[in-house]
Amino acid sequence: MTDLLRRYSDSLAVLERDGLLRRLPAPETSPDFLDFSGNDYLGLARRPELVEAAAVAGRVHGAGATGSRLLSGNTPLHEALEARIALDKGTDAALVFSSGYQANATCIAALLDKGVLGAEPLVFADRLNHASMHLGCTLAGARQIRYRHLDLAHLQALLERHQEDRRPRVILSETVFGMDGDMADAARLQALALRYGALLYLDEAHATGVFGPRGYGLAEAVDLAPGTVVMGTFSKALGVSGGYVACSALVRDYLVNKAGGFIFSTAPSPLVLGAALRAWELLPELTRERSALLLRAARLRLGLREAGLDTGTSSTHIVPVILGSAQRTVQARDALSAQGIRVAAVRPPTVPKGASRLRLGLSAAHSDQDLQRLLEALRSL
Ligand SMILES: Cc1ncc(COP(=O)(O)O)c(C=O)c1O
Repeated sequence: MTDLLRRYSDSLAVLERDGLLRRLPAPETSPDFLDFSGNDYLGLARRPELVEAAAVAGRVHGAGATGSRLLSGNTPLHEALEARIALDKGTDAALVFSSGYQANATCIAALLDKGVLGAEPLVFADRLNHASMHLGCTLAGARQIRYRHLDLAHLQALLERHQEDRRPRVILSETVFGMDGDMADAARLQALALRYGALLYLDEAHATGVFGPRGYGLAEAVDLAPGTVVMGTFSKALGVSGGYVACSALVRDYLVNKAGGFIFSTAPSPLVLGAALRAWELLPELTRERSALLLRAARLRLGLREAGLDTGTSSTHIVPVILGSAQRTVQARDALSAQGIRVAAVRPPTVPKGASRLRLGLSAAHSDQDLQRLLEALRSL
């Protein structure tokens, strides 16, 4: 083995020793198998009308986009989906990407570009923001001023402390946090951004489809400033894949010119966007599914807390069971798996050290009996 390969091998051995090694789960085929490890919150991934919409889009526009949007990949479907997102989000414009990860990494990197801003911007970020948001900051070479998770008084104190600093400022936050299932106060974030002259960037990956009067996210009910950028995905509650940002026409023009992950990447496939557009159109009709999902999550949290389990600050369809050690979390996941129940074992670096957890992602496709079976299995751990 070469020195380089031995180093890879040693690093895997360290992960294994610390209970942090990741392995792909075997594909499940049993009909009794219960999955709480996914993000298909509304049970749309297998809806026949989405599959059909993908097929129709493929027949009209092709299986692949054939190039970057700036070259051959700009189909009427890309433009139609963006127009619909902008309309429903109440923004001038929108831009779609092949994944949410790509959207965050490339848009945040472009928005924080020191060359354009004339200085390193002041980036205020919730300390539990998603890895793709951190990557955007890293790509831009912008340090983050991290505030305590959801603690907007702390954010305000930090903004206050830097008030005399004339550099451009940006606030980055998820609206529903993917690993904790708690919610940011989007209206207060917007108010702070306006008060301190910051650009607000919200990630609605886990809120899109589940929150908002018509399901278009937590920011739907907030009077957004024209400069605010709202990112979201088609990969969670919409059951498909891909990401978007909803923003002003100016920011869209800027991203089209400056976001490397947009310019140098093939446009999302029409197959995917056909399904995503159909899912997007369906959201306002799914009010009952949203209410049932959130009610079931509240019942599950109650049952787990009665059993002495720690569900942290969850108040949504994402319910963590915080076990602390990585080893204990992996053992619990494997014990559930042996009973035909799949949950995610989330460990560092995805969550802080000592905060390893089982992550339960609920779906409108689960039944009350499914939840009961999960609860009983968790109680017997
Ligand atoms: C908060 C958040 N933002 C962005 C992403 C990335 O989205 P995608 O899976 O579409 O790449 C995720 C994915 O887990 C996420 O949790």
